[in-house]
Amino acid sequence: MRFVNGQKSSKFITGLIALTLLTGCAPLPGSPTTPTAASPTSADGSSQSGVNQADSLPLILVPDLNTIDQSDEHRHIFSRHFEVPSVPSVGEAQRSIVEERMEAFNRNNIPDVYAGSAATGELNLRSYLTAVSQHVIGIRSAAYEFAGASGGTSFVTQWFDTRTPGLLDSRDLFGSDEDWAEFREFVAQAATNNPEVIPETVTELEDSWLDSVNFDAQGNATIEFDDYTIAPGSAGSIVVTVPSTNIIPLLSPFGLMARTAGMNPAPRIPPGFLGSASPGDPAQTPEGPGAETPQPRNIDCRKTKCVALTFDDGPGPKTGKLLDELKKKDAAATFFVVGPNAKTRPELVERMITEGHEVGNHTWSHRSLPALSPAQVRSEIDRTNDAISAAIDQPATLLRPPYGARNPKTDRLAQAPVILWDVDTLDWKYRNTERVVDAAVSQTKPGSIVLMHDIHSSTVAAVPEILSRLKAKGYTFVTVTELLGKNKLKSGETYSRAPLPAPVRSKAGEKK
Ligand code: NI
Repeated sequence: MRFVNGQKSSKFITGLIALTLLTGCAPLPGSPTTPTAASPTSADGSSQSGVNQADSLPLILVPDLNTIDQSDEHRHIFSRHFEVPSVPSVGEAQRSIVEERMEAFNRNNIPDVYAGSAATGELNLRSYLTAVSQHVIGIRSAAYEFAGASGGTSFVTQWFDTRTPGLLDSRDLFGSDEDWAEFREFVAQAATNNPEVIPETVTELEDSWLDSVNFDAQGNATIEFDDYTIAPGSAGSIVVTVPSTNIIPLLSPFGLMARTAGMNPAPRIPPGFLGSASPGDPAQTPEGPGAETPQPRNIDCRKTKCVALTFDDGPGPKTGKLLDELKKKDAAATFFVVGPNAKTRPELVERMITEGHEVGNHTWSHRSLPALSPAQVRSEIDRTNDAISAAIDQPATLLRPPYGARNPKTDRLAQAPVILWDVDTLDWKYRNTERVVDAAVSQTKPGSIVLMHDIHSSTVAAVPEILSRLKAKGYTFVTVTELLGKNKLKSGETYSRAPLPAPVRSKAGEKK
C-alpha cells in the first residue's frame, strides 16, 4: 500500500493539520469479535468501496491497548489507531500511519473543502488487531480516501515483536531473500487466478504492494492489495491467499510466531500487568444490576424551555464521568453511539438508558453515508443497532449520520428520524472547555439541539458549567425524542431543532 509514499516530512503535518487532529483516547476492553484476522474482504476478494467489513480480534487480548479516535467533522476525517503503552513502538508506528495519510489527504484536498463546496473529500482510517500472542502483535490498518473524483482503500499491516523495539513489516515475516522471492512468486501465481487481476501487473510485483500480509484461521497467508494496484478500480481491493503448505517453509522464526498468533490468538499480558482485565475508567462501572428503566417523564416542550444536549462518537473513556455529571444535575441527554464503541462498552450504553437518557445510532464505521451503496448504508446502521440491542435489548430509534452528511436517498434508507443539530459547539475542533461552554450557552435557543462529542475530555469538563448556566436561564434538559415529541417524529425526515411554535415540522435538506 501507499502508507509509505514520498517523504515523511513532518512539515506537512504542522499548523492546520495538527490543529485539526482531534484525539479522544479510549482504553478498549473487548471489542468486535470475528477471530479471523485475515478475511478482510468479501469472498471474491473485492472490498466494497472501502467499507471494510472485517472485524478486529477482541482488543482485550492486549489489555493495555488504547484506541485513539480522531475526527474532523467539517472535512470528513475519521481515524482510529492504537497505542500500547507496554510496547511504545506500536503507538509510534500507528501515529506515523495517521500522519502520512493526513499528509496525503491534505495534499489532495486543500482547495475545495474549506470553500465548502459540495464535493468534499473523505478520509476514513481504521486499525484492526489481526494477530496477538505474548510476543507478537499484528495490526492491520485500512484507509479509505476519497479525494473528489474517485475513492480507494489502501492497507498496511504492521508487526511487532514485543521483545524488541521497532516496527516489523511483511519482509520480516520471511527468512532469506530467496524465501521472500519465492513468496512473491506464489503471490503472483495466486493473483493470476483472479480474473479481475491485470496479468502484467503481477509480473512486476512491487515489494511495497505486499505490505499487508496476514494469516487466516487455517494459517494461510493473505495478501491484501490496495485498490488500483493490480486490478482496475472497479474491482476494489484484491485479496490473494497463499496456502499454508507453501508458506511455512519460507517463514522466519518471527513469521512462524506471527502465523500462530494470527491462527490461534492468545492474550498478551504486559509485564507487571496484574490488575483486572478491564483497565477502564472506574467511573464507567455500571450501576448495579436490576436498575429499573425510569418512567418516561412528562415534559411538554411547547410550554417549557427545552434543550436537547447530544453527544456523538462514544461511548468513550470519559462517558462514565459525563453520566455522573448529568445525574448530579438531573439532566437528560442523547448519545449517538458508534457501533464498535457500543459493543466495547455495553455497560455504559445500559447506564444511559437506566439513567433516563436516549441512545441513538451514529453508524458503525463513521463513513459519510452518501458515498455508500444502499446495502452498505443499511449495514452501517444495522450492525450498530445490533450492538445497541445487545446492550439494552432494543435498537436505537434515531439516526445521526456522521458529519451530518445525508441526502434524500440516505434519509429513506435510515428508516428512522434523521437528527441533525442547530448548535454546533465545534468541540472537536477547539477542544477547549471554555469555548465549548460559551458556544453551547450563547447559541442555545428554546428547542435547540446541541452537538457535542463525549470522546473529548474538554467537552466532558464543560458539561457541569453548561448545565448550570442553561439551567439558570430556565432551560430543561430533555432527550431528542422528548424535545421533538415521540408521536411527531417521522422516519426518513430530518430534524435540526424543535420548531417554535408547534407543530413539529422537519426542515428537510438542512445540513448543519
Ligand atoms: Ni461523529
